[in-house]
Formats: sequence, C-alpha cells, structure tokens
Amino acid sequence: MKTYIVGNWKLNFNVGEASIYLHKLQRKMPNYRDVEVVVAPSAVALQPLSLQIDRHKMKLAAQNAFYRDYGAYTGEISFAQLRGLVDYCIIGHSERRHIFGEDDKMIQKKVAAAIRNKIKPILCIGETESERGFGETADVIRDQLVGGLADVSEEDIDKVLIAYEPVWAISSTKAAKMASPDEVAEVVDLVRSVLGELYGEKVAKETAVLFGGSVNPSNAGAYLTVPGVNGLLIGGASLILSEFTDIIETAKRVRA
Ligand code: PGA
Repeated sequence: MKTYIVGNWKLNFNVGEASIYLHKLQRKMPNYRDVEVVVAPSAVALQPLSLQIDRHKMKLAAQNAFYRDYGAYTGEISFAQLRGLVDYCIIGHSERRHIFGEDDKMIQKKVAAAIRNKIKPILCIGETESERGFGETADVIRDQLVGGLADVSEEDIDKVLIAYEPVWAISSTKAAKMASPDEVAEVVDLVRSVLGELYGEKVAKETAVLFGGSVNPSNAGAYLTVPGVNGLLIGGASLILSEFTDIIETAKRVRA
C-alpha cells in the first residue's frame, strides 16, 4: 500500500499564493511512486490548480463538499462539480463537525456522494478531549465509523481512506497536546477491528488509515512507524514548504 501524505491547507492561501506554493512544491519534489502526496486547497483554488498540478507527482483534494449534486442549495459546492477536478475529498473533519455542526448522518451522505462522483473520501474521525476524559473514545470512534460508512458497499470500501485525528491534538485547538504513538496505535487498532466487523478481515488490513494532529517534521517518523498507520493528514506544517517536503522525505525514508 502507498503511504499518504495529505496537506490540509484549511482557510489559508488565496488563489495566487496557492498557485505559487504548488509551483515550488512541484519543483522541489521528485516523483515518489510509493508516496501519494495530496494537497487540499480552498475551494476557489481547485479549478486553477487542477490545470497546474502534475498528477504524476501529486493529487488534489477538496476540503468539503455538499452531498446533493445540484439544486437550490445557495452557497454550496457539489461533488458533481468537483468531479474530474480532484481525486480526493476530506469529509467529516473535526472543524466541520464542531464548528459547522456536521453530524454522522450528513457525513454518511457526503461519503456516498463522493464515491458516486468518483472522488475518494478521506473520512475523518476522532474524539474530543472531554470524550477521551470520560472514557468514551472507543464508542465515539465506532459510532463515527459505522455512521460515516453506512452507505458504503463492500464493492466501494476500497475507495475510502480513514483519518484518525484526535480533536485535542489538532494544533488549532486550545492547548493542543501531542498524541503519543501508543495512543495512536490503540485507536488505529480499533479502527481496523471495526472495519473487520463491517467488511471482513481483508478490508480491515487493506484500508488506508492516516493519522493527523500536530504532525510536524520532528514527529512524523514516529507516527509513520506506528503499526497500522499508512499516512498523515497535516494542517499547520503543510503550509510551510520546507516542513511539508521534510515530512514527504521522511515518508519516503520510512518506506525504504
Ligand atoms: P494540524 O491540523 O496538523 O495543524 O494539527 C491537522 C488537521 O486538522 O487536519
């Protein structure tokens, strides 16, 4: 399986800045066959960047989209409109869940809409600090996985990537803490066992599971060597070219 390095730019970079960053990144980066590098710019940059991107080197992701393909939904962008522009879409990021009130039902529909439009969902799951404090991590992870995947058939599950992002470890969170590799390992194990219950052993083994939350060049290697982790979802550090390319180099080294 490839190692996935996904940069989530969130609400940063205007179109010009995004284009310059991509230009520099592509110039700096060799084509690594084992490492799938993905960047997720803001929605306005997707169309111009889709013309600029060298798809042999990296891929584009959207950060979000709406589950209806068209209609009277002012302000929304559909997966149908993104079809052909992006290969991936981040779905259910904790900022979508907690700031914009997305629930598992909505996330379930978005995952289905992505697949329907030939876009691979990167389904984000993760517990908050208080859920962890109350010992609810396993229940939250299970509910988010079962809910998010409710419409995904056995035939389509190989298009889905899972990203475990403990909300308390995301750098924009107040007093973000670093997740320990052991804490990550425990939840990634659980993710795989839930996938096993839903789709069987083969899927449990072969689904890409990413980790995210304050990943930087100094901890990327430790997270990438956690058993069962197939990649990283990176926010803050993906905005700094040297840090992002460092992490890509680390992924390459860990694979070798
Ligand atoms: P961070 O963000 O790397 O800045 O913690 C990760 C994410 O929210 O996807």
